[in-house]
Amino acid sequence: MVECAKNAYLPILAATILCEEQVILNRAPEFADVNNMCVILEKLGLKVKRQGGALVIDGANATPRFVPVDTAKLLRSSIFTLGAMLGRFRRARVAYPGGCDIGLRPIDLHLKGLRDLGVKITESHGVINCDATELHGGTIALDFASVGATENLILASVLGKDRTVIINCAREPEIVDLCNFLNKMGARIYGAGTGRIEIEGVARLNGTEYTPIGDRIIAGTYLIAGALTHGKIEVSGCNSIFFASLIDKLRYSGCFLRAKGDKIYLKSPKTLKSVGLIETQVYPGFPTDLQAQLLTLQTVSKGCCVVHENIFESRFKFVPELIKMGANVKVRDCTAVVEGVADLSGAEVYAKDLRGGASLVLAGLRAKGYTTVNDIYHIERGYCNLDKRLIELGAQIRREE
Ligand code: UD1
Repeated sequence: MVECAKNAYLPILAATILCEEQVILNRAPEFADVNNMCVILEKLGLKVKRQGGALVIDGANATPRFVPVDTAKLLRSSIFTLGAMLGRFRRARVAYPGGCDIGLRPIDLHLKGLRDLGVKITESHGVINCDATELHGGTIALDFASVGATENLILASVLGKDRTVIINCAREPEIVDLCNFLNKMGARIYGAGTGRIEIEGVARLNGTEYTPIGDRIIAGTYLIAGALTHGKIEVSGCNSIFFASLIDKLRYSGCFLRAKGDKIYLKSPKTLKSVGLIETQVYPGFPTDLQAQLLTLQTVSKGCCVVHENIFESRFKFVPELIKMGANVKVRDCTAVVEGVADLSGAEVYAKDLRGGASLVLAGLRAKGYTTVNDIYHIERGYCNLDKRLIELGAQIRREE
């Protein structure tokens, strides 16, 4: 069973800043990013404790403290504290966020949207100062359906008297989950999962208990692991409709897949066929967070595959490591061409980011001989016990501290 989705859990954790009462979030995953988000919440005065598998959060004494660079750089999602603090306190001071080095990752769309809602923003020395005393509703049209900008604007708009409409918003399942959580606390958000979200401000949010959705990227990573190793695997805990674009590609590769409810079974064929083309897109298109894993599968699939990375410009940093393992991949700008080879060979490689790092582990499962993946802290930002789970599935892995 996969963990709750990192990309749902993180904005939901930030959203607890908006609530003065106790919130219980079930099935808290032990990802480094989730633990770091809890550290940030504690620095903002919220009480956070792990109880069994849940996080119990009390926001009664939260204050709009400065989020300095050493805290903000812990993870990309630190930027969600901006929208949430503006929502509750009408002011915020936050340093630019950190996160995976997969591209420029500007936050101009977040800031433009907030300005459209009346927030006065000044920036100096990498710190964003926001005054939202004149925060009002309005209609924001995003130039690009950014996941983070959509979430930050929702967080800034749920409390108040006005109506905010976000057009060309992101439609990812994790956004729907954030809105379901907020609505359970009493927010009035309509249209999540479509390209137009409408938020009617409410005076306050009440405490609640919530279980975020399962992680579609982890589910997809395990399915690809099964496909790469000519194995059989059943993955549960995530609605398969959320990664339909991956299922389609895996079927094209020759894998047999059967999905029912939140369970999906895969059986890999003797010979994998190249999928020909992978183009990352916003949801429901093929997710950029599964690009590295599916590209890795192509390295041992018969034929040639062209991979266009349309979301983040630096998402091929894992490719030189795959080449060390015998993969035949050429990269130019945001396009990679993969010519399948019969087998990979084990090598010493380095994780450069979260998903690319996980893909090197997958490649190591398939490669002949030993593979050593270094800098696994990148992987631990969004996977817990990847090694233990793969061992349970028959892999031979040893973790060295
Ligand atoms: C989120 C996910 C990340 C996923 C990505 C795309 C979280 C914590 N992270 O990241 O795992 O890979 O969605 O599905 O949920 N952009 C701008 N200006 C902005 C904001 C974004 O130009 O203000 C650009 C980015 O540089 C990128 C594209 O828009 O090229 C997509 O970014 P966005 O959807 O915002 O991704 P994140 O929220 O950073």
